[in-house]
Amino acid sequence: MHFELSEEHLMIRQAARDFAQQELKPGVIERDEHQKFPAEQVKKLGELGFLGMMVDPKYGGSGMDSISYVLVMEELSKIDASASVVVSVNNSLVCYGLEHFGSEEQKQKYLVPLAKGEKIGAFCLSEPEAGSDATSQHTTAIDMGDHYLVNGTKNWITNGSSASTYLVIAQTHAEKGHHGINVLIVERGMEGFTIGPKENKLGIRGSDTHSLMFTDVKVPKENRIGEDGFGFKFAMKTLEGGRIGIASQALGIASGAYELALNYSKERKTFGKPLADHQSIQFKLADMATEIEAARLLCLKAAWLKDNGQPYAQASSMAKLFASEVAMKTTIEAVQIHGGYGFVKEYHVERLMRDAKITQIYEGTSEIQKIVISREVLK
Ligand code: CAA
Ligand code: FAD
Repeated sequence: MHFELSEEHLMIRQAARDFAQQELKPGVIERDEHQKFPAEQVKKLGELGFLGMMVDPKYGGSGMDSISYVLVMEELSKIDASASVVVSVNNSLVCYGLEHFGSEEQKQKYLVPLAKGEKIGAFCLSEPEAGSDATSQHTTAIDMGDHYLVNGTKNWITNGSSASTYLVIAQTHAEKGHHGINVLIVERGMEGFTIGPKENKLGIRGSDTHSLMFTDVKVPKENRIGEDGFGFKFAMKTLEGGRIGIASQALGIASGAYELALNYSKERKTFGKPLADHQSIQFKLADMATEIEAARLLCLKAAWLKDNGQPYAQASSMAKLFASEVAMKTTIEAVQIHGGYGFVKEYHVERLMRDAKITQIYEGTSEIQKIVISREVLK
């Protein structure tokens, strides 16, 4: 066992770090305030190969491993979690799902432009009445012979208005329960497919979260991924990797806030000495550093298991559960260390604190991660 990153990993991490400083940091406060989607920045992330990081180069991807993905997600998320969630969804939910379970035709038609960053994808599982309880799908995909007729509403869809390709989970055979669920590739612009207004959110305000409405949308049969009834397993398998992405996002939010607090504590003086000379502040920094390191190791372990073909569902849920709790705790302490300055936008930590909260909610809440982990340990 060794804990050193390879030269290549270090270069990839540096590239992401530079990108975050040069391209994401300018304007991040304004984008948050005005809920502006980071369109130009996402385009550049695509050009750098960060939107199809793990996809085989023969399908337009960068052919990197999951360790690189963790490193890139951490660096981007230190600065702009609204941009990094696009990277996470496109890579680990949409590209992964298409590459591992799609047909050759689906890969050529849909995966290639997504992996090259020419198009953006969305993953549509949640509904108004099916969030944690993901098997109770109300959206229907009725088998009409050569096509499915899709009706229903999806909620909270990341990349809702910027995507072109939507992986939509829907119920075909209600009597079969979760064995009757399918996943269909729906294209933006298909007749009957409409996008609701952008949600006005607490955090990741630059990310475009929308409801999607489907009214008699005709989706060709060849757009179904996998066998009839594979949709729920598809969602669960895909989310296993997605949770590594969100865990790494949480890690980045935490480490971004920690770095800001560390620097600030050396500059700001109270009672004649820097904050960093007060033991109570030192202990906060020690707790933050320790917990962030533990979160990073969990993320890297889950990624390593995935890269080495070993089961990683439990590890990715542990990483997400722990890293998202660390993100919340660390960002609250980072605001505290900044005092009143932490409460205003210019110092960045209040945004990171607001952004941290979503990591405990999406891709399975903390309570859902505990369900997954406890089922694994009790097996
Ligand atoms: N791999 C393969 N199959 C799996 C699986 C996995 N990891 N996990 C479950 N399954 C299968 C089960 O084996 C079962 O199939 P069989 O009956 O054939 O054995 C089927 O799925 C149903 O599983 P459960 O009986 O365990 O189902 P459940 O109703 O108890 O729920 C759950 C399981 C883990 C709670 C699941 O509903 C869940 O993950 N909920 C959270 C949903 C979620 O994470 N949503 C995220 C949306 S995407 C998103 O949020 C993106 C973003 O923000 C950026
Ligand atoms: P609920 O399921 O109603 O849960 C409410 C509370 O009850 C939570 O605290 C939950 O943990 C708890 N709870 C529920 N059941 C149990 C139980 N059995 N035991 C203990 N506690 C329980 N979804 C997508 O499909 N695609 C996306 O791109 C996407 N992006 C999102 C972006 C944002 C900004 C947000 C807010 C959500 C996004 N989601 C997306 C949806 C997200 O995955 C769900 O919000 C999440 O899974 C929780 O579902 P819910 O909101 O319906 O909460």
